[in-house]
Amino acid sequence: MNVLLTGGAGYIGSHTAVEIMRAGHGVVIADDLSNASEKVIERIEKLGGKKVYFYKIDVCDKAALDGVFALHDISAVVHFAGKKAVGESVAQPLMYYRNNLDATITLLEVMQKHSVNRLIFSSSATVYGIPKTVPVDENAPRGCNNPYGWTKYMSEQIMRDACEANKDLAVVLLRYFNPIGAHESGVIGEDPEGIPNNLMPFIAQVAVGRREMLGVFGDDYPTHDGTGVRDYIHVVDLAQGHVAALDYTENNSGALAVNLGTGRGYSVLDIVKTFERVNGIEIPYRIMPRRAGDAAVIYADSSLAKTLLNWEAKRDLEDMCRDTWNWQKNNPNGYRS
Ligand code: UD1
Repeated sequence: MNVLLTGGAGYIGSHTAVEIMRAGHGVVIADDLSNASEKVIERIEKLGGKKVYFYKIDVCDKAALDGVFALHDISAVVHFAGKKAVGESVAQPLMYYRNNLDATITLLEVMQKHSVNRLIFSSSATVYGIPKTVPVDENAPRGCNNPYGWTKYMSEQIMRDACEANKDLAVVLLRYFNPIGAHESGVIGEDPEGIPNNLMPFIAQVAVGRREMLGVFGDDYPTHDGTGVRDYIHVVDLAQGHVAALDYTENNSGALAVNLGTGRGYSVLDIVKTFERVNGIEIPYRIMPRRAGDAAVIYADSSLAKTLLNWEAKRDLEDMCRDTWNWQKNNPNGYRS
């Protein structure tokens, strides 16, 4: 079958495109390249072993999106397209709500018009806000502390309501924990624009000499070493979770929320130490104040994915650190290298 990936040129989208192709499907990508490079397309083709149909369009442009559905026999959609910087969303909330919700609604309208009833959504553990208890399962209370998070929360709700109205529609809301790492080939990886907001790309840029020092946001959390604990998941495991979710929509309908995590928590300093040990590179760091809005500890109860999707993460923290560095050292300036 052919699968449309909105935002398929991005970090998670590109890795997912490769895994979907390896599962034997055709891939069509719609991406406005606002936070991605066109170079990634030929690299996906190389790793996936066949042609990718690429359209440089904004998913909010209904006529353009309709044109893609008219040209290709699309059976399912994986929806990644959206803005994702937490700080930017606090500064420009209306832009975030306009863009991310418009993309979701436009996509659902065009899917409906073309009778496409299988959808995987790129959601986030951010919908759990600061959890009261860990591990977090899919029924944990939800609530966000920034507009980016609310756009994920609201998109989930819009998709649930669409499923209520159309009993043929099947949606899997994948709540990602912290995706890091890169394809083991080092050919594709994460390439953030400007100063990285997230931990692993920052470490990778320190390792390659683009940044002097990592700032560790707080060492007074109630954790084993005082630094924040997260559930880091290898991006290729995450990508394979999308293939499992696509398979699930073949014989099921309705909306299903599923965590994609490993079920293990690591601290910021665990990540720094493992990266240093596995790659033989020192990562200078200094302790800084806590970052506003950060939870002390969050990690997944990932059992639902195993039960319903027959998926679980296979790669460990060493794999994540090794593959991140393999990508970054081969591409010191990302896709601009
Ligand atoms: C962040 C977002 C979350 C989003 C996710 C996507 C915030 C508050 N949360 O999650 O909404 O879904 O990315 O990947 O931005 N850290 C440092 N120094 C750094 C960067 C991070 O010490 O330079 C620490 C953080 O305090 C945290 C951990 O590293 O304890 C992970 O941070 P990050 O990679 O930004 O992910 P999250 O905050 O979990």
